[in-house]
Amino acid sequence: MDELFIPVIAGTTRERRRSIYAAKLVEQIGNNQPGIRTQLVDPKDFTFPGEGDGKEAKDPSYTEITKNADGFFIVTPEYNHSFPGTLKRMLDSELENYKHKPVALAGVSSGDWGGVRAIQSLALVTRRLGMVDTFADMQFPRSKELFNENGKIQDSAINDRVQKAWDELIWMTKVMKWGRENLTRTS
Ligand SMILES: Cc1cc2nc3c(=O)[nH]c(=O)nc-3n(C[C@H](O)[C@H](O)[C@H](O)COP(=O)(O)O)c2cc1C
Repeated sequence: MDELFIPVIAGTTRERRRSIYAAKLVEQIGNNQPGIRTQLVDPKDFTFPGEGDGKEAKDPSYTEITKNADGFFIVTPEYNHSFPGTLKRMLDSELENYKHKPVALAGVSSGDWGGVRAIQSLALVTRRLGMVDTFADMQFPRSKELFNENGKIQDSAINDRVQKAWDELIWMTKVMKWGRENLTRTS
């Protein structure tokens, strides 16, 4: 099978954001997976004018990334028990490019629950976008203690959980790519 492209999408542009450390860790572990190419998709690098998914509301480089992606890994912070508007705006700018592709979801919070409520809210949206969620969610709780000021993870057990999330996502990505390429839809 050809190399699979699975970008890691970060969820916020906030100054001093800590979820970017989690996204970078996920990207770094993703880069160690055989046959996988990944890329950190940082919302700071894109501009989405207006609203919606019309041509005038897209960022062409985000369009290109989503078109080429075989799957996605989204790392979202929890803001007021949901995920940030920035992430929603970015996801909303495309539709067809997500269809029949798997997505792994990770949450990051300063509280004890590791962004589970953000993941639950996001799952409603990814489902509507035609993605298929994996069941191996990742949580990064207590973000202020979990990463030091240089962004280094302080609990090495997390690495194994990120690896398991990648294992599941890669398996789903292979299955769904095969399906997209080999099974025709009757409707
Ligand atoms: C607007 C806002 C709302 C937040 N709401 C919650 C929350 O509901 N639950 C929680 O555990 N942490 C909450 N936090 C803390 C973030 O989860 C924490 O900053 C974490 O590191 C992830 O966000 P960050 O990448 O912006 O740092 C909130 C932070 C902001 C900026």
